[in-house]
Amino acid sequence: MLEEDAPDRREFETGEMTRSALQFIRSGRRMRVERFSPRMTLLDWLRLEERSTGTKEGCAEGDCGACAVVVARERDGVLVHEPVNACITLLGQIDGGELITVEDLAENGVLHPIQEAMARQHGSQCGFCTPGIVMSLFAHYHQRDGETSRDAINDALAGNLCRCTGYRPIVDSALEVCKTGADDQFARKAAARLQALRTLDDKADVFVGDEASFFAAPASESSLAQLYMRHPDATIVAGATDVGLWITKKLTPLEKIIHVGRVAELAVIEDSAKGYAFGAIVSLARAMPALGAIDPDVAEVLRRFGSIQVRASGTVGGNIANGSPIGDLAPMLIALNATLELRRGDEVREIPLESFFLDYGKQDRRPGEFVRRLVVPKLPAGRHFRAYKITKRPDEDISAVLAAFCLQVEGGTIGEARVAFGGMAGIPKRAKTVEEELRGVSLADPSGWRAAAAAVDKDFTPLTDLRASAGYRSRVAGNLVVKALAEIAGVSSQVTRVADHRMLAHAAE
Ligand SMILES: Cc1cc2nc3c(=O)[nH]c(=O)nc-3n(C[C@H](O)[C@H](O)[C@H](O)COP(=O)(O)OP(=O)(O)OC[C@H]3O[C@@H](n4cnc5c(N)ncnc54)[C@H](O)[C@@H]3O)c2cc1C
Ligand code: FES
Ligand code: FES
Repeated sequence: MLEEDAPDRREFETGEMTRSALQFIRSGRRMRVERFSPRMTLLDWLRLEERSTGTKEGCAEGDCGACAVVVARERDGVLVHEPVNACITLLGQIDGGELITVEDLAENGVLHPIQEAMARQHGSQCGFCTPGIVMSLFAHYHQRDGETSRDAINDALAGNLCRCTGYRPIVDSALEVCKTGADDQFARKAAARLQALRTLDDKADVFVGDEASFFAAPASESSLAQLYMRHPDATIVAGATDVGLWITKKLTPLEKIIHVGRVAELAVIEDSAKGYAFGAIVSLARAMPALGAIDPDVAEVLRRFGSIQVRASGTVGGNIANGSPIGDLAPMLIALNATLELRRGDEVREIPLESFFLDYGKQDRRPGEFVRRLVVPKLPAGRHFRAYKITKRPDEDISAVLAAFCLQVEGGTIGEARVAFGGMAGIPKRAKTVEEELRGVSLADPSGWRAAAAAVDKDFTPLTDLRASAGYRSRVAGNLVVKALAEIAGVSSQVTRVADHRMLAHAAE
């Protein structure tokens, strides 16, 4: 099951080089793992196979962070330390990375500075959540390298639940340690570690298993296209922040898994005059600077998207391909008039994003077809964008309603309007009657705004579920129309918003 380095390459019928084992770095050694269930989670492998039990299991659904570990990788030429939830990460996803768990932090019996500060400042209470908290802070320590703040630490810990409410000493410990530059064994060995990671990058397709049951991780888009055509019944996995839960919660017996996380062509972000193009496997964390540059509200919704662990693994393609009616990206990108590229075999087609969502659980995607890219136009002059994410708690919560507005304003009057909602129907959807009502509305005359707000009820008949009642959803959606108009008319978001006023409020208003 577990062996040290022994290169194994053979030629599959695709003609590409194929490797039949995973390889990654673990405690300074190059590891090789073969013969594993395609749906084995990283947490199960750590606890049940390697017997590294420092990493704990709490919720097994990516919410609590008890299982947080760090995967170091080279991204854009730089060594990055990404915190991931091992409970919903598949073992196969760590191919090509360096896996770091809480067992690795102490050096010659001396605690890591994060561990030492947590112990000294009484940041560890029950201790069950502590390994995950330490690992999230370890990632923060390396990623921020001395540049941190209380807000940044709170964001870094949004995905780590401390049930005893001991956050004050935890955040104090983190502030003390993370405000100094990273100075530990990992920082000292950074160059050698990067070099070791580069030697893993063999550009070979990974295929572990047989035609009936396998974990595959193609290295190129053409390999992916061929493999998926051959196995259209396989499950595509990108970050597994959705699929991981099918395994741990629904116990879905997935036999054929195609992990797209190694396809280099799908990891590219392009910035052109037309807009930004995001390859499907660009993580939400990597997409944040570019998407956030379109408008500060996009940045704020993304800051509240899951947690730092979810954003490190979850991808823009996964957030669209899952067809979720409550995904955060879709309504914002529909309002921004984004297009989606799909590929099946050698055929690539481009469609408006909104037409991808056909019905609840049904998308315009044929067998063997995968999401390739998302192209998001930048905001032209005279367009105003607003997005609001309504949840029961500010952090790490799925939207009850997400409203996104893109309004063209000329001489104080609204021209073209694109308005989209999540959480109001079985799919993310444009509010076409609201849009019609908005055309010609004067920003100077609030008496005309109510008709547009009321039109929400013509566009949607929302459901009642655990997140919100139908009545609440309709009410809040109408109110958000008024709020967007008020803000675009010039009312400061300091007045209209309780907490998350537009980050660039002063520049934008
Ligand atoms: C704790 C937690 C918090 C979350 N918070 C939020 C939140 O705030 N907002 C939100 O919108 N979502 C949230 N999510 C859901 C999830 O993180 C997102 O939907 C994420 O973007 C999914 O991306 P992924 O790469 O992990 O998808 P995966 O789980 O890998 O895949 C999701 C689906 O898309 C398919 N798929 C993936 N990539 C492709 C592709 N390239 N082509 C074709 N099909 C593909 C898969 O087969 C699967 O059906 C949360 C999840 C968790 C566990
Ligand atoms: S066990 Fe709770 S996030 Fe993994
Ligand atoms: S450390 Fe476990 S509940 Fe706070």
